[in-house]
Amino acid sequence: MKSRIKKIFEFAEEKVDAIVIYNSVKPHLDKTFFYVTGLTEGVFENCGLIFYPDLSSEMIVSKLEADSAKKAENIPTKVMEDKEDLKEWLKEKLEGLDKIGINGSELTYKGFDKIKDSTDAEIIDMSDSIVEARNRKDENEIEILDKAGEIASEVAEEIPDHIEKGMKEYEVAAEISYLMKKKGATGDAFEVIAGSGPNSAEPHYTAGERKLQKGDFLVLDFGALYKRYRSDITRTFIIGEASDKQKRIYETVLEAQQAALKKIESGIKGEEIHNAAKEVIDSTEFEGKFIHGLGHSIGLSTHDGSGLSPNVDVTLEPGMVFTVEPGIYISGYGGVRIEDDIVVTEDGYEMLTDAERELKVL
Ligand code: GLY
Ligand code: MN
Repeated sequence: MKSRIKKIFEFAEEKVDAIVIYNSVKPHLDKTFFYVTGLTEGVFENCGLIFYPDLSSEMIVSKLEADSAKKAENIPTKVMEDKEDLKEWLKEKLEGLDKIGINGSELTYKGFDKIKDSTDAEIIDMSDSIVEARNRKDENEIEILDKAGEIASEVAEEIPDHIEKGMKEYEVAAEISYLMKKKGATGDAFEVIAGSGPNSAEPHYTAGERKLQKGDFLVLDFGALYKRYRSDITRTFIIGEASDKQKRIYETVLEAQQAALKKIESGIKGEEIHNAAKEVIDSTEFEGKFIHGLGHSIGLSTHDGSGLSPNVDVTLEPGMVFTVEPGIYISGYGGVRIEDDIVVTEDGYEMLTDAERELKVL
């Protein structure tokens, strides 16, 4: 897609004659291959792509995706007969070039070697400009992200019909994956987090064998993979009966999310949005219990390179997509997180996920 290639070169700090993308084997595929080609089906292991400042591009693919590759518009494509073809293709395309760019964030060391062995050109890491381009989604990407958000939101709404006391965390996780796939997701955006009781206090817990018990918090954090793009939503439930303390924690997190959402507009620093949520939490008895950044950019990757956090220097622009996910985590006791995805617009923001947020006891 020429507009996406253009964006990458516009953010480049250094001029290069071409950028080469190489996919190793799953999961080491460079998402930029799909960003530029727009291809939504196929695996494309060991395939390559080259694009130029004049916005043209070419690719080499395996026989396994020869038909899918035809869906890429205006990209002359060579289908590999054997492994030697890739070497020859690289040599031919890189011959005579002085400076070539690579995506150092998603290229394996072996892939780098393949490129290096095919050229004497200077090799420059262009991963920063690739991240900058990918962080500003176009209309087509937002449409896909909206659908990914819709799938996850619908599943979040249906959870009370499917989850009950006594189920194991991994059964809950499986149920969520299944429900998303039934609605058109090609898979999970990431491993489903189903943390119950004390496990809910760990933000990056996954799912284990613990059974849901009366009085548990249940943090469910999941997202749909749809046309290679991802959503990310978290809802926290309580099993059986909510204590006063649990209700206070939940209401504080909800208030923190509302305070952050109110701040979102083009031109504001990501850090300010994080601080709005943190101030709400730190003004309560739960001071210091919000232990991560408020959100991350999301797109072809779940953590797409930017974020709403004191550690990331970003000023919001229309087309940027972030999660907004405050939480309170009390080790050994439990935690609450509420997470939604938003896209920054000219006038503020729009929600990409929209499941109900009020406290639900299952
Ligand atoms: N939902 C998982 C994460 O944001 O890290
Ligand atoms: Mn997230």
